[in-house]
Amino acid sequence: MKIQSSNLRFMIIIIFLLIFLPTGFTQNTQNTVQHSYFTYQETSAQPNLTGTQPHILHIDHYNDNSGTAVVRIARINYYNYVTENYCYEQRLLLRVIQKNGSVIPINYENATEIQDINYCYISSAHKNPLNVYSLFDQYILVTYTHATNTSDAKTYVDRGMVFDWDGNIISKLEFGPSYLSPGTNWYPNEFIVNNITPKNGFLRFSAETDYFKWSQYG
Ligand SMILES: *[C@@H]1O[C@H](CO)[C@@H](O)[C@H](O)[C@H]1NC(C)=O
Ligand SMILES: *[C@@H]1O[C@H](CO)[C@@H](O)[C@H](O)[C@H]1NC(C)=O
Ligand SMILES: *[C@@H]1O[C@H](CO)[C@@H](O)[C@H](O)[C@H]1NC(C)=O
Ligand SMILES: *[C@@H]1O[C@H](CO)[C@@H](O)[C@H](O)[C@H]1NC(C)=O
Repeated sequence: MKIQSSNLRFMIIIIFLLIFLPTGFTQNTQNTVQHSYFTYQETSAQPNLTGTQPHILHIDHYNDNSGTAVVRIARINYYNYVTENYCYEQRLLLRVIQKNGSVIPINYENATEIQDINYCYISSAHKNPLNVYSLFDQYILVTYTHATNTSDAKTYVDRGMVFDWDGNIISKLEFGPSYLSPGTNWYPNEFIVNNITPKNGFLRFSAETDYFKWSQYG
């Protein structure tokens, strides 16, 4: 009896879905998904390196229902046939796109702080050492790796900077040594999530030499 009644319940759910899902789905697409178009001309102040169009490398949106997104763009500099990875021009170009199509450009070009090692994808997993996260309000977290000797992976340290939309650096963070695998090869490895209340900061999950580390930043 028990099996029969649960089978019956299953049937009812399936029939319910067949009857209501298609129409419900159609209504949703027609009534609640809104989109609009805008055009933005990307102007280059400096001579470009390859003459290629900028690529979108990453998009992250704010969790505040404002419809605002941060986009990282870059032009390809060259293809590294040894590591089989693309390298991009050595500038951090962020574009804050607001719901009404306004675009705020943020350009950061200090190669002493964000060194060339951050502009190439790494390893066969095509890891990106330079990551961008929208935090809250007008704040953007950028994480990267800094080395005292770029030829020596043991000197690699993970860092972060918080930018505002005017391109000001609000704070600088030092997360600790970069992950090396199997002990000498640099293998960027981090996972960052906003706190449920973004204003309370973010959590960073990273691989260390023989363990994983969770850290909270406020
Ligand atoms: C970028 O490269 C293209 C192709 O080489 C060239 O036509 C264009 O003028 C360059 N842009 C700038 C700003 O130098
Ligand atoms: C777009 O929205 C932002 C934020 O609400 C505002 O600051 C900006 O002036 C608006 N831009 C235009 C062109 O309406
Ligand atoms: C670039 O970054 C380095 C290291 O953080 C700093 O010492 C230097 O003043 C910066 N240069 C400029 C032009 O901001
Ligand atoms: C940087 O690291 C390389 C490789 O380990 C080493 O040969 C070189 O001497 C180092 N340079 C400095 C300035 O320490």
